[in-house]
Amino acid sequence: MSSLSARALASALGSWRGISSAPAYAALADRIRLLVLDGRLALGARLPAERELAAQLSLSRTTISAAYAELRDSGYLESLRGSGSIVRLPFRGAAPLEAIAPAHLLDFSKATLPAVPAVAAAAERASALLPAYLGESGFDPIGLRALRQALADRFTMRGLPTDADEVMITVGAQHAIGLLARTLLSRGDRALVESPSYPHASEALRANGARLVPVAVTTEDGWDELGLEQTFQRTSPTLGYLMPDNHNPTGRSMPVELRERTIAFAAEQGTTLIADETMGELGFADLSADARPIPPFAASAGADTRARLVTVGSVGKTVWGGLRVGWIRADRELIQRIARVRYSSDLGTPVFDQLVVLELLGDYDPILVDRRAYLRAGRDHLLAALRARLPQWTLPVPEGGLTLWVNLGAPVSSQLALAARNEGLVIAAGPRFGMNGVFERFLRVPFSHPPELIDRAVEALAAAWNGVARHPVVFAQEDLAEVV
Ligand SMILES: Cc1ncc(COP(=O)(O)O)c(C=O)c1O
Repeated sequence: MSSLSARALASALGSWRGISSAPAYAALADRIRLLVLDGRLALGARLPAERELAAQLSLSRTTISAAYAELRDSGYLESLRGSGSIVRLPFRGAAPLEAIAPAHLLDFSKATLPAVPAVAAAAERASALLPAYLGESGFDPIGLRALRQALADRFTMRGLPTDADEVMITVGAQHAIGLLARTLLSRGDRALVESPSYPHASEALRANGARLVPVAVTTEDGWDELGLEQTFQRTSPTLGYLMPDNHNPTGRSMPVELRERTIAFAAEQGTTLIADETMGELGFADLSADARPIPPFAASAGADTRARLVTVGSVGKTVWGGLRVGWIRADRELIQRIARVRYSSDLGTPVFDQLVVLELLGDYDPILVDRRAYLRAGRDHLLAALRARLPQWTLPVPEGGLTLWVNLGAPVSSQLALAARNEGLVIAAGPRFGMNGVFERFLRVPFSHPPELIDRAVEALAAAWNGVARHPVVFAQEDLAEVV
């Protein structure tokens, strides 16, 4: 059971005061509830003792007691004799994830897409291929040679010469990130991440002992180049996790010169760089069928680079999340090390799913062309709806990815996310994508959902915003420090 210090909880709470007219104990309970629902406080974590939290927040112990009592009454906290106050969900007996986003709520906490139509026909063709594999054991931590070869050919075609032995098939990109973290990290190692970043990658790095060091990415300016250089030099990270194309959540792509410089910084420090390409081929600046394929990040390295560059990807966004197939591209030695680590957790990717993906790769480019057009239409639809209903928000116009990283103009993202729930919308507050409670001014709004759902989500946000905006916003000193 992990214990949360009063300092860590205060940092995760961010600026919960001053933006609500509710009594302090109720506002505190509300914010803790949101942190739990948002996944920012782990289930089973032990909250700090009332006295310590009271001292940290400069509040009376009675206020903390009342907040904890309210959380206990609503089922978010359980007090166990001798074990303190433990974070729980109120939905006993139900699967917790279902309970976090119940079916009657619109779930915009995930940027997901419906499957491309080609999946059904590919599955039929794959079943015709299956008999050829039925004589084999099916246990294979590296993956089908034919699929590894097809992916290697695609990397080569995109400008990164690759051999089938340099590819491992995984159960999605998240699995790939987890395997790499387990293989490469030891407790206390530093891992460089973007800020904001994809939260489940940060969780995988942290779960494997990493201390995260952030580098800023903004919708206006992209990557903070000086910050990158200094963070590499000062922290000498073991590993760096980047999304250089169509970054989640900002939608930015890294300029070529900065890729080269980043690779040089990593080489100097001996850092292994992971480029996550899950969104890599979902840029929509050019929708023509013969648009030049996006070269992988690792293609920016000279052939003689000393940097260790790893690419992860999947068909989770390009084709369908329900096909749990992803991959790692790395040097042979690393692929072999990961395979040895993998045996302790899983024994390979389902063969049938691999065959479906093999079939889809045979005709991948038209799928990507359709996907990009769908996403650009979604972006335009969301921008138009937000401009009409929430004109006070600052909206970027990303050229790729699945989400809009909206600037709300005030540090109220958590408050807004909580109010949106009451309007039937589940959406992750900005701090979910950062560390230590930053990004209260930001909200990630996906445009990957169909237009009618986007409209419903914007209506819910507008209604929630009305409620939040009615409370006077008091800017405390810590609000100012939060701007990243
Ligand atoms: C940047 C990024 N990487 C990885 C993943 C996980 O992908 P997969 O579904 O292939 O596990 C996601 C899913 O949202 C993502 O946004």
